[in-house]
Amino acid sequence: MSPIIAPSILAADFARLGEDIRTVDQAGADWIHVDVMDGHFVPNITFGPGLVADVRPYSDKLFDVHLMIAPADPYLEAFAKAGADLITVHAEAGPHVHRSLQTIRGLGKKAGLALNPGTPAEALVPVVDLVDLVLVMTVNPGFGGQSFIRPMADKIRQVRAILDGRDVHVEVDGGIAPDTAPIAAGAGADVLVAGSSIFKGGAANYAGNIAAIRAAAQGQTGAAA
Ligand code: DX5
Ligand code: ZN
Repeated sequence: MSPIIAPSILAADFARLGEDIRTVDQAGADWIHVDVMDGHFVPNITFGPGLVADVRPYSDKLFDVHLMIAPADPYLEAFAKAGADLITVHAEAGPHVHRSLQTIRGLGKKAGLALNPGTPAEALVPVVDLVDLVLVMTVNPGFGGQSFIRPMADKIRQVRAILDGRDVHVEVDGGIAPDTAPIAAGAGADVLVAGSSIFKGGAANYAGNIAAIRAAAQGQTGAAA
């Protein structure tokens, strides 16, 4: 089965972000992954709902908004109105993740739960019926271009076991490239986020970069043990 490939626009050219989103959409992206960072929950700052609203018209693909912010609750409605289709909050971002997931669904959006590398899969258990997606971070969030943390493959398997056959996406984010995509997909991830490995080499390479990750995940090329 073909994975969902979600380019992370963190690695795009922010000076021409709308055009870059359009180009990566036409190059074969399935979803658009949007990394929101606050300089507090993670040690980097990106952008807020205003920018998401401005770039929304550049693609009809699902906007997968990954909130690396704390608190998240005061901003959920703004991101929903900005055009997010799926909003993911971190389990570590505050004491009320159950409420956050309920709020996202109440806004009519799909809800995701993100787990940092140091957070056990069991954090999913109390909210398992409130999620449409579980994001297993395969790097510590904050920056693109980091190395895939291999033991996270075990966590992907644990998450799939907790989901117990539910129709919920398992997404991986961080260090995904043709050599690591097969590890994540083989463990049970069906949504692959990739920033630097898709946007490298400029617009002429986006389609080839996406195709290489897709083919590797499907076991055709580039597979690593
Ligand atoms: C990390 C972000 C990722 C990041 C991935 O905090 O959530 O989406 O852009 O970047 P790469 O694919 O370069 O590891
Ligand atoms: Zn992300």
